[in-house]
Amino acid sequence: MNEIYVKEDFCMINQKVQAIILAAGKSTRFNTGRTKLLEPLCGQEMILYPTKLLSSMKIDTSVVVGFKQDEVSSVIKEHHGESIRFIIQDKQLGTGHALICSQPSWHKDHILVLNGDVPLISNKLIQNLYESHIATDAAISFVTSHVIEANSYGRVIKDDSGIRIVEASEFNGEIDETCVINAGIYLIKKDFLEKYINKLNTQNSASEFFITDLVQIASESNRQVNPMSAPFDLIRGINTLKELWTAEHIKRSELIEHWMDQGVRFSKAHTIHIELNVTMEAGTVIGQAVQLIGKTHIGANCSIAPFSVIENSTLKNNVSVKSHSIITDSTIEDNAQIGPFAHIHTQSFVDKNTIIGNFVEMKKSTIGKQCKAKHHLYLGNAQIGANVIIGAGMTTCNYDGRKKHATIIKDGAFIGGNNSLVAPVTIGEKAYTAAGSVITEDVPDNSLAIARSRQTNKAEYAHKLRPTEKEDDRKENNNDCSAIDSFLAAQKTDSDITNL
Ligand code: UD1
Ligand code: CA
Repeated sequence: MNEIYVKEDFCMINQKVQAIILAAGKSTRFNTGRTKLLEPLCGQEMILYPTKLLSSMKIDTSVVVGFKQDEVSSVIKEHHGESIRFIIQDKQLGTGHALICSQPSWHKDHILVLNGDVPLISNKLIQNLYESHIATDAAISFVTSHVIEANSYGRVIKDDSGIRIVEASEFNGEIDETCVINAGIYLIKKDFLEKYINKLNTQNSASEFFITDLVQIASESNRQVNPMSAPFDLIRGINTLKELWTAEHIKRSELIEHWMDQGVRFSKAHTIHIELNVTMEAGTVIGQAVQLIGKTHIGANCSIAPFSVIENSTLKNNVSVKSHSIITDSTIEDNAQIGPFAHIHTQSFVDKNTIIGNFVEMKKSTIGKQCKAKHHLYLGNAQIGANVIIGAGMTTCNYDGRKKHATIIKDGAFIGGNNSLVAPVTIGEKAYTAAGSVITEDVPDNSLAIARSRQTNKAEYAHKLRPTEKEDDRKENNNDCSAIDSFLAAQKTDSDITNL
């Protein structure tokens, strides 16, 4: 994970350097019709990796936008407010043209130019680039790496005529054994840029302005050029969904390794999906294929069993989530047990030591301490107190087709199995409801509510219900007996029986 470096000389960077991020391109190679810069990588849009990095370094930043500019700029504004400026590149005529468009914004001694599609860079890399740029007094410094398969990178060529970058599409020579490529991260003296930017032209097979031509221009003008090598994984450019997939693997592994160091155990770590804003505490165990999404916090000594999904939620300490549970936008307090197959969502809250069992759905509901709600329930718009026991199959009937209504169950109440609580309704403190009840009226404290029809037993009536021999014969000759069975069953309604 990136650390923020607060070395003394590092503080100089933001005084001397301003950054321009190139983010106007059409993302043609993604083939999605969308801009790749808003594609999430471990839950965060790609463009926010460089913007957040530069903002953590307090470097003044502008972003060149063009293709899908409103979408790109609104995501950036959401995170950075007005602190990042936008430069419009109306026509996407290449990376060099994007830089030309940014000229009116140049106001510091050195211009750091970054491709927007290089999300794995670290502040250490920027710091090193700055230090070597100053140490070599270069007109242009740029980051390089070594790659054998380099189809989508510009190659750095050094020969008697100097140093230049040749785009993969233009390259027709032999790949030399050094295999040096251009990372798309440049630190350039403003004076040099102002003097030479108008030398960029579109004389290449793409008919675009290439920012990379600045290297050759500097070299030919006998200005100092400073290529600085960096590990490839830090500078991977993302031009295709395949490259995004690889970069996400790298980022995710980084996150998992970080949390392992903090004492979190991942069984089958390679199957876990974890995002950037997830935080965890020591002693927690994450099972196979768990997805930890968005702004999620998992406290100490929790266990999240396989195939569960936790999204934008907080789990306090010692929470046990059994397999296949989904928790979204909710909070689970200490020692609670959830699942298997539970679905807790939409600002729900489970208090300490409470058990939410299998096939329980909670929506916009809160449940107090020490409760048991263990089997096949729907709790919608419910406020449930402490020490409540809810029998299997209870449903809050919270929706009348127009509005949602609240169900209140007070402390110590006992709800019988298979109840329907027709909201709005309140079950009083320590009240009981009988199994199978349809509760339509409030139940006072300490009362028992029975809301179901009484049972009648008809002696010997079963003989009349059994199929006759004739019916049995028909069944034998007809493989599809289910139609006859359903017909007979339909005859035997409650009213038929009670009218006998
Ligand atoms: C670029 C470099 C290549 C380098 C590679 C590193 C050029 C000509 N080539 O190629 O040498 O190895 O990056 O990843 O620069 N953009 C604009 N406006 C445009 C075109 C692009 O803002 O008109 C932005 C894109 O949104 C993107 C960045 O510039 O964020 C780089 O563009 P891209 O098309 O990905 O360049 P590469 O082909 O990868
Ligand atoms: Ca690229």
